[in-house]
Amino acid sequence: MKGIILAGGAGTRLFPASLPISKILLTIYNKPMIYYPLSTFLRAGIKDILIITNEADYENFRKLLGDGSQIGINIKYRIQYVQKGIADAFIIGEDFIGKDSVALILGDNIFYGKDFGMIMKNAINKNSGATVFGYEVPDPERFGVVEFDENKKVLSLEEKPQSPKSNYAVTGLYFYDNDVCSYAQTLKPSGRGELEITDLNKIYLEKGKLNVEILDKSFKWLDTGTHESMLEASNYVNIVEKQEISIGCIEELAYKEGFITSNDLLKYLEKYGDKNEYYNNIKKHIISKG
Ligand code: G1P
Repeated sequence: MKGIILAGGAGTRLFPASLPISKILLTIYNKPMIYYPLSTFLRAGIKDILIITNEADYENFRKLLGDGSQIGINIKYRIQYVQKGIADAFIIGEDFIGKDSVALILGDNIFYGKDFGMIMKNAINKNSGATVFGYEVPDPERFGVVEFDENKKVLSLEEKPQSPKSNYAVTGLYFYDNDVCSYAQTLKPSGRGELEITDLNKIYLEKGKLNVEILDKSFKWLDTGTHESMLEASNYVNIVEKQEISIGCIEELAYKEGFITSNDLLKYLEKYGDKNEYYNNIKKHIISKG
């Protein structure tokens, strides 16, 4: 399965902070925001990744992550010149996807949960169509909303409804079969002029091929689209990392997933010297795990 991280967007809601730099490169506690969605892909075992950026930030993303070989993965980049909506990712990324299945994650979505890697791997294995993840929130009107019955059969999907039919938001992580590229081509722009991911998911729903996985409250899901939620996410990561558990640490995860050996990673980290707290913590974790 391939993976696309959508890191475009103007980030106008976070101006002036995101005026000179993509909001997806702003810091959440001790690392750039994009580390978190990228780490979600690593936990799912996805290592062929396309990052879609806006034109102005393309070089910054490359400077940060390069071709991914330093952590044993393959990263490619494409520019989204015009903001046409989330589902545009499957039009921009069509040749990258080729004949594969594909995961999409939004650059401002942070997921954390103990067995999340396993849950995603299981979902990928059994996916025949589309899989989305539902998470209970107090303010569903801000999101795509999924209504489902007691057997987790999806009844409806609505994008930012005024009167939500449930409290379950559709998070910004999606798994699709290869049909997603041809379905994306059939979408028409919504009232706000965007190719909506919810409209794409509705196509799968109509075909009876939309699966929803519910993430319970042992998981943390944050859409860091506001200053408040960025602060909440930073505080959360800070508290968890005090317990020697890393969140969003792509270098450590690449080692844990077997994408890179401990020797290669330690060698790579050497170039940052011994005065950097972030890299020193990784060294400590790797050495202590032997
Ligand atoms: C987008 C999607 C929405 C989804 C949300 C998750 O919203 O349109 O369906 O629930 O991401 O983060 P937006 O980022 O456009 O507000």
